[in-house]
Amino acid sequence: MNLETATARLTGPVPQQAPAPDAEPRLPADFLLGAATAAYQIEGAVDTDGRGPSIWDTYSRTPGMVVDGHTGDVACDHYHRYAEDVALMADLGLSAYRFSVSWPRVQPDGRGRANARGLDFYRRLVDELLANGIEPWLTLYHWDLPQPLEDAGGWPARDTAHRFADYAALVHEALGDRVRNIITLNEPWCSAFLGYGSGAHAPGRRDPVAAVRAVHHLLLGHGFAVQAIRAARPDTRVGITLNLYPVTAYSDSKGDADAARRIDGLANRLFLDPVLRGAYPADVLGDLAPVTDFGHVRDGDLAVIAARMDHLGVNYYTRYVVAGPDSDQPASAQWRAPSAWPGSEHVRFLDRGLPRTAMDWEIDAPGLVEVLTRVAGEYPTPPIYITENGAAFPDEPAADGQVRDPDRVAYLRAHLLACQEAIARGVPVRGYFVWSLLDNFEWARGYSQRFGIIYVDYPTQRRIPKSSARWYADLIRSTSAPTSSRGE
Ligand code: FCB
Repeated sequence: MNLETATARLTGPVPQQAPAPDAEPRLPADFLLGAATAAYQIEGAVDTDGRGPSIWDTYSRTPGMVVDGHTGDVACDHYHRYAEDVALMADLGLSAYRFSVSWPRVQPDGRGRANARGLDFYRRLVDELLANGIEPWLTLYHWDLPQPLEDAGGWPARDTAHRFADYAALVHEALGDRVRNIITLNEPWCSAFLGYGSGAHAPGRRDPVAAVRAVHHLLLGHGFAVQAIRAARPDTRVGITLNLYPVTAYSDSKGDADAARRIDGLANRLFLDPVLRGAYPADVLGDLAPVTDFGHVRDGDLAVIAARMDHLGVNYYTRYVVAGPDSDQPASAQWRAPSAWPGSEHVRFLDRGLPRTAMDWEIDAPGLVEVLTRVAGEYPTPPIYITENGAAFPDEPAADGQVRDPDRVAYLRAHLLACQEAIARGVPVRGYFVWSLLDNFEWARGYSQRFGIIYVDYPTQRRIPKSSARWYADLIRSTSAPTSSRGE
């Protein structure tokens, strides 16, 4: 990307809140509408059938790391209740389900032969999905690195990329005949910068050099995995999921524009450029020069990382509005996780005062249109799937037992309208997965954040579809209905 164009785009007027949309989204009949989860967040059964420990077991059991000392030990007990959960998905009419495979179930030590009992769980799950007409979308890595691999150096160590490719090949060998769509990594930004930079996620290291090395080895692992999967079965469709954000400068001052360029670089371009163009962005290498000289990158790595993909997963939650140290607006400025941005610790993340979710993330549906048009406009992109989007709110059952979540309905509607808008602008968006199917273990926030369209009563493990689930089911029905009954 031409840096001047990028900077011009980043310094436009700060977007304000869009009016609440009331129209229902109208999406193409073949648009995939699904829901997403991740292994550690829902499965529980952490000692069952030979599963080994992961970095999230260790982290969540370390006092002070997760809210109220919560762990994924039981979570939604999905490991035992998967059939009931698939039945709920079928009731909603989901066309696809995105889940992740727990690496330590498949390779308890992170290397060597597969643990057949671990793989069997995913065979049962996939068979159940297929029997119910739900397309499985399998994520290989949603943050639960086997602890022995962390002990051997974790993602900052190059060997972990090779271990990941071996693991990918084992999973694909077992399930590749039934699973057509595979996502290698979920949000490598989080694995690297929260896991090794700020320490807000497992394994909780705070070392900017390790974080930047982790970025590279995650991406290299992705590339090796794509190669291994393609070599085994060229018809498997494989891609990566990135968490992308529009980044807007608070003002057009030089300092604010530079802050936006830096954060856009670390959050978006540090991942998009190598994966889709085979090169790290030069300005980001410059920003990170005080941290590392990228001596860990070897000849040929970027060609591996840029292996052709069949789809790009985009996770979208919010926008960043940022300011430099010279900004005129320090009063409303608030620091957010500054240590997650190596070399750019001086950047401030601004609070616009928009409605927020329980995670404290500002709601900004137009930002999704911006992310999508930007990616499709600036990069050679394969078909795009929104692999996560959703909101946490403090849902509780009413006296009649129903869980009414109008805020979530409004959130989902607005973001699906954003997909509709992106499609109208020519972006190849082909599907959308709500985060999440079930309330679940929200990482460092434990069970305090409810993202599900299905409520989980943790003490009894009872599931209650929220009103957003009913709304989503109606949308799926009307989207896939023959055009004549859609009033066209
Ligand atoms: C994403 C994660 C997902 C969930 C949502 C809220 O960053 O991929 O597991 O925690 O945020």
